[in-house]
Amino acid sequence: MKNTWRFGDLELKYLREVIDSGFGSGTSGNMNNRFEQAFAAKVGSKYAVTFNSGTGTLQAALYAVGVGYGDEVITTPLTVISNLDVILAQNAIPVFADIDEETFNIDPDDIARKITPRTKAIMPVALYGLCCDMDRIMELSRKHNIPVIMDAAEAHMAEYKGKSIATIAQITSFSTENSKHITTGDGGIVVTDNEDYAIKMRKFGSLGYAALPAGDGRIRRHKDIFQDPMYKRHDAFGYNFRMPEVAAALGLAQTERMEFFINLRMEIASMYADALSGCDYLLPQKTIDGYVNTYWTWTCRYVHPSISWRSFREKYVEFGGDGIYAAWALLYNETIFASGEWKKLCPPLYNSIEYKNQHCPVAERVQPQLMQFVTNFGSKSAAEPHVEALRKTIQYFT
Ligand SMILES: Cc1ncc(COP(=O)(O)O)c(C=O)c1O
Repeated sequence: MKNTWRFGDLELKYLREVIDSGFGSGTSGNMNNRFEQAFAAKVGSKYAVTFNSGTGTLQAALYAVGVGYGDEVITTPLTVISNLDVILAQNAIPVFADIDEETFNIDPDDIARKITPRTKAIMPVALYGLCCDMDRIMELSRKHNIPVIMDAAEAHMAEYKGKSIATIAQITSFSTENSKHITTGDGGIVVTDNEDYAIKMRKFGSLGYAALPAGDGRIRRHKDIFQDPMYKRHDAFGYNFRMPEVAAALGLAQTERMEFFINLRMEIASMYADALSGCDYLLPQKTIDGYVNTYWTWTCRYVHPSISWRSFREKYVEFGGDGIYAAWALLYNETIFASGEWKKLCPPLYNSIEYKNQHCPVAERVQPQLMQFVTNFGSKSAAEPHVEALRKTIQYFT
């Protein structure tokens, strides 16, 4: 499937501007600032910081809220490996809370059960475009004074009870990787209203340059300051996780066109939902009243009593459907975790940790049943053959 429809004249215009500027500042420049400001305004946040990925954003967020050696971070096991990797990269301890059977999102009751005096952050994931139960998660955050990092990598412009998903947790992270609602090829952008967090995240992703403020990523804004042999440039630890300016040009254009991308995915999701017509063995992710699901994918539990997941998928592909993608294995079942390989990252801390009590029975039941249907088509008519394939597959097996 070619995704050339995702890019047009606006993307080319901003790319041209970057090239014509000759990369004036030599590092994250004006285009990053423009993307950040446009994105922050669109999602309703004060500060946005661009990164090379939606994984880098999450690690920066953990760092900003103070997660470090031996701290516990609660997250869902039903997510991409990034959520595990960033916890390990901070030498922290992943704690897995179970999911809700209908929304597939993290279950606040299980978060509550897993909070300990060592819990330093909660990292819920808005799975497939649907926000988590934020009232209850933020109540836990207030009660225990634990910051929440909302991973909205898959949930651009999602809403929760009339609020933008970006305005609820202390920090909200987005990915602009290739498959996401808006894309910069690879990339991420993280938002917050907290100036201190914004500065910390920016420094973490940009080599700890002392002069970086919350709202500007250019490290050489004042050239003369650098031209002093006594000047000390770095006052914090940082990686170079910056987003290149050419990627930011795409991000700005895609942010300005955000509604188009979001509406299309939502319309295509409703086309799939209509194709179900009474089918009782495909149970779509439940979007609770008051939530706006922006459908990175349209995802169902497949619970047919006799036809296997694979057979259903094979028939769907035979009828011309694109894929049907399986959910990731649960994080604690991924080889890097189950084999103990992760312990090599910090043996003195990790060698003593056992994960005997970390099983999440609902996630274990739901994960193998999930079927993700692609919503990333350039038009409703481009999606129609795939919706039709679903209709035919259902008829075939009913
Ligand atoms: C839920 C979730 N979190 C984090 C990420 C990481 O984003 P990236 O691929 O930009 O590093 C992704 C996307 O891959 C994701 O789907």
